[in-house]
Amino acid sequence: MNNNDALKIRAEKVIPGGMYGHMSVYRGMPEGYPQYFRRAEGCRLWDVDGNEYIDFMCSYGPMIAGYGNHRIRAAADAQRNELDIADAPAPLIVDLAEKFVSQVSHAGWAIFAKNGNDATTVCNMVARAQTGKRKILVAEGAYHGAQPWAARRTKGTPAEDYVNFPTYQFNDIENLTVAAQAVAGDLAGIVVSGFKHDAGSEQELTDPDFACKVREICDAEGAALILDDVRAGLRLSLDASWTLHGVQPNLSAWGKCIANGEPLAAILGDDEYRDAARSIFVTGSFWYQAAPMAAALETLAILEEEDAPRTLERLGQQFRDGLYEQAQRHARPIVQSGPPQMPTVMFEDDVNFELGFRFCTNALRNGVYMHPWHNMFLSVAHTEQDIAQALEATNRAFKALS
Ligand SMILES: Cc1ncc(COP(=O)(O)O)c(C=O)c1O
Repeated sequence: MNNNDALKIRAEKVIPGGMYGHMSVYRGMPEGYPQYFRRAEGCRLWDVDGNEYIDFMCSYGPMIAGYGNHRIRAAADAQRNELDIADAPAPLIVDLAEKFVSQVSHAGWAIFAKNGNDATTVCNMVARAQTGKRKILVAEGAYHGAQPWAARRTKGTPAEDYVNFPTYQFNDIENLTVAAQAVAGDLAGIVVSGFKHDAGSEQELTDPDFACKVREICDAEGAALILDDVRAGLRLSLDASWTLHGVQPNLSAWGKCIANGEPLAAILGDDEYRDAARSIFVTGSFWYQAAPMAAALETLAILEEEDAPRTLERLGQQFRDGLYEQAQRHARPIVQSGPPQMPTVMFEDDVNFELGFRFCTNALRNGVYMHPWHNMFLSVAHTEQDIAQALEATNRAFKALS
């Protein structure tokens, strides 16, 4: 028995379901996907049986500048050696807040937390504190974290937990207008994502007219435009992602890659919402940890130096073009969606992702870790050579489908 299977057997006795959450291979992952990894470096992973993979998931987003990036690790370690957690934060919390405020154009202030969950929840609290209203509109099918207000897809969350979170359809102006009218007078905010990146379905880029409409409704209602950039943040733009459409949020939620995998999230807000942010009590035992903040400062510097959004776009496009050519040649039509920096690859008419699963298993056997139904992620640690090597593997994966 290999190491992965031996660990799975042990885990089944002590971890519910053998593994929980988005990293469970029991939750809709193709055959052969390792449940455990032993080592990570740059854009590569090694599983517990020594197999090496070029990684296109980047820890589901947090890795953006390479696993074990020496500069980021050195900055975090230096801070950890000096002070990580104490009775009050280290001074660099101010440096990091200043950095975000200067980099993200809508931001006048910052609060730091740990998970994207924290960030989206705090945005909602600030919006409600400011407006004195209750309803927050969320897009149907969107993911904003596994906390009860957003987790209506799981057991253990009674309907009352999300009664104040009615839904609308992303990119559908008419539907949004009706949804907003239904709660007129009680609308505290509208939550949007960088683009429509719901798992299991084709991705949709944000329609700029829709983005303008969200802004218009929020202005008319005195509600907050809350941009959840936890997943798309820093990959599409180093500013808030909706600035690409000329629309500024009032509040934005950040997490995942902002410290290249060190645990850190951020809530940014504009000046109008400053007093409301001051009026609420939000905190967490680990929210003030200094080492992840040092990692974030270094990550932000690297992403600026590397012009990360454009670099990732170029690399993602190289991958996308290569896959398109292979799919044509092997007569296996694919549907590629989302921005190149966060590509989603599915097969046409692929009921239950049957073909996608076989393709991903083949790619995995050839040393490439892809996902059949979730958006993937590029990093600045991927090089053109890595993409070319990955494409050789995907070519073999296409071939093995017949
Ligand atoms: C758009 C979005 N918002 C919020 C979250 C929640 O972040 P976290 O898992 O760090 O709590 C996620 C996580 O995938 C996300 O993709």
